Amino acid sequence: MTGTEDGLKLKSSVGQKIFLVSGVKMRKKVSIIGAGVVGTAIGHILKKKGYEIVAFASRSKSSFDRVRVYTDIFVTTDVVKAASLADLVFITTQDDQIERVCEKIASGNGFKPGQIVFHMSGTLSIEALKSAKEAGASIASAHPMQSFADVDLAIEQLSGTYFGVTADKKIRPQVFKLVEDLGGISIMVKDEDKPLYHAAACAASNYLVAILRFAQEIYSSMDIPHDVGLKAMWPLIQGTLKNIEWKGTSQALTGPIARGDTGTIEKHLLALKLKLPGALDLYKKMGAYAVDVALEKGSIDMGRANELRRLLEEE
Ligand SMILES: NC(=O)c1ccc[n+]([C@@H]2O[C@H](COP(=O)([O-])OP(=O)(O)OC[C@H]3O[C@@H](n4cnc5c(N)ncnc54)[C@H](OP(=O)(O)O)[C@@H]3O)[C@@H](O)[C@H]2O)c1
Repeated sequence: MTGTEDGLKLKSSVGQKIFLVSGVKMRKKVSIIGAGVVGTAIGHILKKKGYEIVAFASRSKSSFDRVRVYTDIFVTTDVVKAASLADLVFITTQDDQIERVCEKIASGNGFKPGQIVFHMSGTLSIEALKSAKEAGASIASAHPMQSFADVDLAIEQLSGTYFGVTADKKIRPQVFKLVEDLGGISIMVKDEDKPLYHAAACAASNYLVAILRFAQEIYSSMDIPHDVGLKAMWPLIQGTLKNIEWKGTSQALTGPIARGDTGTIEKHLLALKLKLPGALDLYKKMGAYAVDVALEKGSIDMGRANELRRLLEEE
């Protein structure tokens, strides 16, 4: 779907939510405040894309050493000076530092009209940057929906990552373009929805880790070590992810709940009760959720769903 916003071409492929832009002129002087994993990675990518990285600001030698592996850019502990040199200022400190750092820059007159000041947190409101707005700058957040363990991985993984973007309408084309130059894809997130948006990302990533750990624990109760359990599950996990990618979540559901096989679920519950009673509660809760998914898939009817639910609710 194609539309226009502020006279610029915006292409949205899923409803109005995903944005690709063309014809946006970017001012390209960039400062990065907080030279950690994300800050260093975006500095590296933007430099390759032709942006001029004018400063990296951080506090410790370890941060400066990390930056120097990737670039020979000016590094400083002076956050005000770093911000004042740029058109685009990224505050990529830990979330709980963002507001404080922004206020420090504002009180030192490091912001000016025409600048765009970003943070990249998933949950934090753009209100954390209000001191920059009061100084005349525009503010935005662009959160990469990805988990970055280190700078090298972040540089590799940013390409193709979706970014939850929150920004005033007038600067959205620049923000979308910036995300595109980072190799990402923008989706709009209302400021008030950010905690929900982040809860979903957390469920998809962190709770996936937690559920696999849970499966490892069940294997461990029958003396299969964690590493062997994970190796054994790996083809199953990959196959499931492929099915989800190709068919969507509900159509990818297989197994006893999708088949309405109450006998198998009864056996699972009994075995867990005997061997690993602490795991029963989570197994039952996830099972009950899977019943809803099976109903959505259409592979069981309401009668069978209720039977499964009764079983999963029993003490
Ligand atoms: N990592 C991820 O997977 C991920 C994913 C999506 C979004 N994000 C977001 O990206 C942002 C950065 O996360 P990150 O993982 O890159 O964090 P990080 O690796 O911990 O880096 C934060 C950096 O900020 C610097 N810093 C902290 N306080 C500062 C201050 N007062 N002045 C100047 N520099 C300061 C720290 O260096 P010094 O101690 O040397 O100052 C550190 O290098 C966060 O908003 C996070 O929510 C992260």
